[in-house]
Amino acid sequence: MKLDFPVEQTVKQRYSVRTYQSSNPISESDKEKLMIYANALSNPFGVPVSFHLLETKDTNAKKLGTYGVIKGTKVYIGVTVPAGALSLEAAGYDFEKLVLYATNMGIGTCWLAGTFDRSGFTSAIGVKENELFPAISPIGYPAEKKSLTESLFRKTLKSNQRKNWSELFFKNSFNKPLTEADAGDYAFPLELLRLAPSASNKQPWRIVQSNGAYHFYGQINPKKQDEHPVAIERVDVGIGASHFHLAALEKGLSGEFVTLTDVNISTPKELRYLFSWLPEQG
Ligand SMILES: Cc1cc2nc3c(=O)[nH]c(=O)nc-3n(C[C@H](O)[C@H](O)[C@H](O)COP(=O)(O)O)c2cc1C
Repeated sequence: MKLDFPVEQTVKQRYSVRTYQSSNPISESDKEKLMIYANALSNPFGVPVSFHLLETKDTNAKKLGTYGVIKGTKVYIGVTVPAGALSLEAAGYDFEKLVLYATNMGIGTCWLAGTFDRSGFTSAIGVKENELFPAISPIGYPAEKKSLTESLFRKTLKSNQRKNWSELFFKNSFNKPLTEADAGDYAFPLELLRLAPSASNKQPWRIVQSNGAYHFYGQINPKKQDEHPVAIERVDVGIGASHFHLAALEKGLSGEFVTLTDVNISTPKELRYLFSWLPEQG
């Protein structure tokens, strides 16, 4: 299958860009190209995901900001989804595909779910009552030198590091780690999932391989699982699923994401089952 960008190379190239070239703002044609791509995206969860381009200078004088975290760009893309089953996962899936597409174009991005003026952006976008607004990202050309704030963020969150396979991937039950040899052809999609970005670099995705299927779980604070409108870990799992799926497609591995009613795997209480990847039977 022909993909829109080389997946492995782009996943490895992407990082959260917090400092942009202020003297070289993103071009109109690049903005347009990104929005055309964004508006044509679809996801395996069947949820309509909407993207909103925002320029902080012309928003009715309402002050939009990122508390000094993002420097050198005034252009942002926000994502909204109708509230519903797997809508946060769908937002994560589609927005990450856009992030990777942008990376391949030489455009920097940074998922933001916490460090931005949420109420200002909410009204600027015109988020509707039954919609969720999980995140925004700045867009622009990365500056050569990172700001001090950016370097501090990366150091504090250990952004260059990821958890080991043994903490993330399991075989048949949560008691037994999955090895790369156990994963076979799926070692590649799992490895690219492992490299995905996540809020505060928490990497809340957990996956159990069982009878050839890959069951996806999110480590979500039990208090937040139902009452919290935006459990950001669910967006993270959607991001991970995007990397997994693109990597599988790059290797010619087909299958589908489905939510099963009974996975029959004993699950620790901080983990929540979300969906499964069922490979196509050869
Ligand atoms: C859903 C999500 C929300 C995030 N929210 C923020 C944020 O509010 N502020 C911020 O500076 N970085 C945010 N990040 C960026 C993460 O800190 C970053 O992805 C992680 O530290 C790994 O670093 P990397 O993206 O450079 O690989 C977020 C990332 C994700 C996926």
